Amino acid sequence: MLPGLIQNAYRVHDFATDVLIETMGTIEFHGPVLANLNMLITSDPANIHHILSRNFSNYPKGLELRKIFDILGNGIFNVDSELWEFQRKTTISLMTNAKFQTLLERNTWDTIEKGLLPILDAFARQDTPFDLQDIFQRYSFDAIIKLLLDHNPRSLSIGLPHVPCEKAFNDAMYALLYRHILPEGCWKMQKWLQIGKEKKLIQAQEAFDQFLYPCISRKREELMNQTIKDEDFNLFAAYVKAYNQWNNRDSSNIQKFLRDTFLNLIFAGRDTTSTTLTWFFWLLAKNPLVEARIREEIQQQLHLKEDENLNTEKTRKLVYLHGALCETLRLFPTLSLQRKIPLEYDILPSGHRVSPNTRIVLSFYTVGRMETIWGKDCLEFKPERWITERGSIKHVPSFKFPAFNAGPRLCIGKEMGFIQMKMVAATIIQNYQVQLVEGQIISPSSSIILQVKNGLKVRLVNRVPVQSS
Ligand code: HEM
Repeated sequence: MLPGLIQNAYRVHDFATDVLIETMGTIEFHGPVLANLNMLITSDPANIHHILSRNFSNYPKGLELRKIFDILGNGIFNVDSELWEFQRKTTISLMTNAKFQTLLERNTWDTIEKGLLPILDAFARQDTPFDLQDIFQRYSFDAIIKLLLDHNPRSLSIGLPHVPCEKAFNDAMYALLYRHILPEGCWKMQKWLQIGKEKKLIQAQEAFDQFLYPCISRKREELMNQTIKDEDFNLFAAYVKAYNQWNNRDSSNIQKFLRDTFLNLIFAGRDTTSTTLTWFFWLLAKNPLVEARIREEIQQQLHLKEDENLNTEKTRKLVYLHGALCETLRLFPTLSLQRKIPLEYDILPSGHRVSPNTRIVLSFYTVGRMETIWGKDCLEFKPERWITERGSIKHVPSFKFPAFNAGPRLCIGKEMGFIQMKMVAATIIQNYQVQLVEGQIISPSSSIILQVKNGLKVRLVNRVPVQSS
C-alpha cells in the first residue's frame, strides 16, 4: 500500500477519501514491516461516535501523542484524566462568564477596527495583491493574545512586521505532521542532531517561550502590584486564581502551567479561525451567488448606523452566513484528522477489531464528503443545507459533522470561533469585493492544520458602503 500513498502524498486527504468511499468507510493500512506504519483509517460515523463518545475512556490522548506534541506541555490538548478535567472545567467556566462575552466582543471589534481594516484599506487603495491567509493568521494571533494576555503584539500593522512567535506556529504545524508520519526513532534522532523539521520545531519552541514567559512575568507583576482591578474581568488573573485554588497544584510551577495553558489556547484560537476564513473566502469567490445572498442578509438584518460596531447579538441574526461557515468547515475541517490508540482490545461498530497496538486515524475530511451522509451534491458548496424550513440553523450530530470534534472533548471555543469569524467575514463582505489572483493552484497543505498551501492571493476592491434601509 505504501507506493500508492507516496504517489498520492501531495493529495493525501483526497486519496484517503477515494479509498475510504470504496471501502465503506474503513480500511486497514499496512505499511512496510518495521516502519510501524500499520493503521486503521475510518470515516464511518458509527466508529467516530464510538471512539469519541460511547467508549471515550478507552481512547485517551495517551503517551504517544503526548510525545509527538511535547511542545504543548501539560496544556489541555495534551493531557488526560484529572489535569484535563481541571483545564477543561476552568476554561469552560471562564468562557461562559458574561463578562468574558463582553471582553470577547470588544476585543474582536477593536482588532478588526484598529488592525484589520487599516491594512485591508491600504491594500485596496494601492490595488496590490496580497496573501489573505497571512492576514487572517496575523489577525487571529493579535486577537487571541490581546484576549488572553491583554497585550497587542501588532503583527497586523502596516508593513506586516515579522513577529517570530506568530510565524513559529506555521513551522510547528508542519514539523508536527512529520512526527505523525516518521517512525519515532527517526524524528528523535533528527531532534538530537537538531536537523530538518526538528530544528524548526526547536526554534519554534524558543520563539514561543521567548514571547510567552516575559508576558506572563509582566502580568504576574501587575497582579501582585494590584494594577489589575477586581471588577475588570481578566482571563490571566482568573487562571492564576483557579490554579492557586486547585488541590493538585505544584505552586513552584505556576509559570510553566500558565505557559502551557496559554500556548494551547493560542494554538486553538489562531489557526482554526484563520484557516476557516481563508477557505471561506476562496469558496465565496467560486460561488458568487452565495456571496450575493450573504450581502443581502447583511443588508436586511444588520441596519448598522454610521460608527456603529458589529456585536454578538447582531451576528446571531446572520443565519445564512453561519450556514456558509458550517459548509466551509464540512468541506475543509481545520483539523482534518484525529489519531487514537485504544487502551484495551475493542470491536468497532464496523466490525473491525482493534488492539492497544492499533493506530486509528479518524478522517474528518472524508466524513464531510460522504454521499451517504450529505447526499449526491456532497461536493457542492451549499449553505442552504444548514438552514431549516423555519430559517434557523439545522442541528447535525457531531459524529456526522466532527469539525469541532465530538464527545467529552468537544471544542470549547466553538461559539467564540463563530462570533469572531462572523464579525470578520461580515465586515469584509460589506466593505470589499475579494477577487482571486488568476493562475494560482489552490490545495490543502501538508500540515496538521488544513491550511491553504502557499496561501490565498487576492486583490480587494472597495465597495460603496451598504446602505441601511
Ligand atoms: C473554526 C474554529 C474552531 C475549530 C474548527 C475548532 C476545532 C476543534 C477541534 C477539532 C478540537 C479537538 C482537538 C483535539 O482533541 O485534538 C478542538 C478542541 C478545543 N478547542 Fe477548538 N476549534 C475552533 C476554535 C476554537 C477557539 C476560538 C478556541 C478558544 C481559544 C478553541 C478552544 C478549544 C479547546 C480549549 C479545545 C480542547 C478541548 C478538550 O480537549 O477538552 N477552539 N477544537
